[in-house]
Amino acid sequence: MSDAVEGLRTPRLLLRRWREEDDAPMAAINSDPAVTELLNRRMDAAAITTFLDRTREHWAVHGFGHWAVEPLDGPVAGEMIGFVGVAYPSYLPEVADSPELGWRLSPASWGHGYATEAALAARDDAFDRLVLPALISIIHPENARSRRVAEKLGMAVERQVFNPVHDRDVDIWQVLAP
Ligand SMILES: CC(C)(COP(=O)(O)OP(=O)(O)OC[C@H]1O[C@@H](n2cnc3c(N)ncnc32)[C@H](O)[C@@H]1OP(=O)(O)O)[C@@H](O)C(=O)NCCC(=O)NCCS
Repeated sequence: MSDAVEGLRTPRLLLRRWREEDDAPMAAINSDPAVTELLNRRMDAAAITTFLDRTREHWAVHGFGHWAVEPLDGPVAGEMIGFVGVAYPSYLPEVADSPELGWRLSPASWGHGYATEAALAARDDAFDRLVLPALISIIHPENARSRRVAEKLGMAVERQVFNPVHDRDVDIWQVLAP
């Protein structure tokens, strides 16, 4: 496990450790059909509780995990708008041992480049501080926004795996440490 870190800063965002008060806004994001449409795991009420428990547990066990994302300025400065970060994707056993860089933001914050800005910082932290050799992202082929974020991170599709949630193959994107 690496040294503890409280957060990362980008020009417009704070990525910080998860707090209790993040659970309610994240549950609302996880309940939004626009958000869940192309996710690789189910997000019913039970799954949302499990998601929040696993977010905390992942930090405790691995010393890294999903960051809570807050804009530093603008109309929603200081509000938690979602998560970006690295976690083991236990929901998909075939790739559960590969650290996944994931992103999920509230629809009101889409289209400002926030996901890319946060994910670049999380990617660099994963390679520089955590010394992870590679990162994957599991992306539904029709998730155009998410694919675009992956491209901007220097990722490329490495293979496909079957995802029973969608009853189809989904793309495994990968980027190697420099
Ligand atoms: C995926 C997600 C995090 C992107 O957030 P975001 O802050 O809007 O992302 P960014 O602004 O950094 O980048 C989005 C890119 O997609 C592009 N885009 C937006 N809408 C698009 C569309 N309908 N089709 C294709 N590209 C689109 C944007 O133009 C941008 O690319 P650009 O910088 O080249 O212009 C957000 O849409 C989300 O939370 N979705 C729901 C959860 C989800 O699907 N998570 C990923 C699971 S794999």
